[in-house]
Amino acid sequence: MTRITLVRGDLTREHADAIVNAANSSLLGGGGVDGAIHRRGGPAILDACRDLRASRYGGGLPTGQAVATTAGALAARWVIHTVGPVWSATEDRSGLLAACHRQCLRVADELGARTVAFPAISTGVYRWPVPDAARIALAAVRDADTEVAEVRFVLFDDRAHAAFAAELGRPRRSAAGDPGDA
Ligand code: APR
Repeated sequence: MTRITLVRGDLTREHADAIVNAANSSLLGGGGVDGAIHRRGGPAILDACRDLRASRYGGGLPTGQAVATTAGALAARWVIHTVGPVWSATEDRSGLLAACHRQCLRVADELGARTVAFPAISTGVYRWPVPDAARIALAAVRDADTEVAEVRFVLFDDRAHAAFAAELGRPRRSAAGDPGDA
């Protein structure tokens, strides 16, 4: 049974087997948590990402997928990069956001990572409303068949932390959001 914990803080300072990066398809860095991970983790992470782009991911990492690299100078063994969907008011992309979490746990299981720290994927530059992202993220982790012992959501501000805490306290819902599916 995977334990889900919440932390209010900076993901790049977390001690975990794997830290999840809210990347973009280029895998070559960006702002937000992506920029923070590369800044604190150092050039080894970008070097590994460049190797991925030169091999398996020549066209970039598709939205909803995940891939691991070294964590460089971070207090983790791996960074698991995933690309969240950009929020859309006209298209339901919740399946892709759920897939980010499932795929990160699949990669974590392949690595043997037992503790995985996530940011609130897609809720910054990609503008996903935090409460809805919390619902999708928590449902996806709860529904996942994984050996990961702890999933830790590291929330950068009080708003995100409160949203995840409120969702964590609710009865289980499926990622699709139909309470009857619980
Ligand atoms: N620790 C934890 N969470 C953080 C940190 C940090 N150091 N820095 C930012 N965050 C939070 C943001 O407040 C937001 O809630 O991470 C969440 C995700 O925001 P972004 O990092 O903007 O990621 P996302 O919305 O998925 O957009 C991805 O932004 O940074 C670029 O290269 C990235 O193009 C990609 C896009």
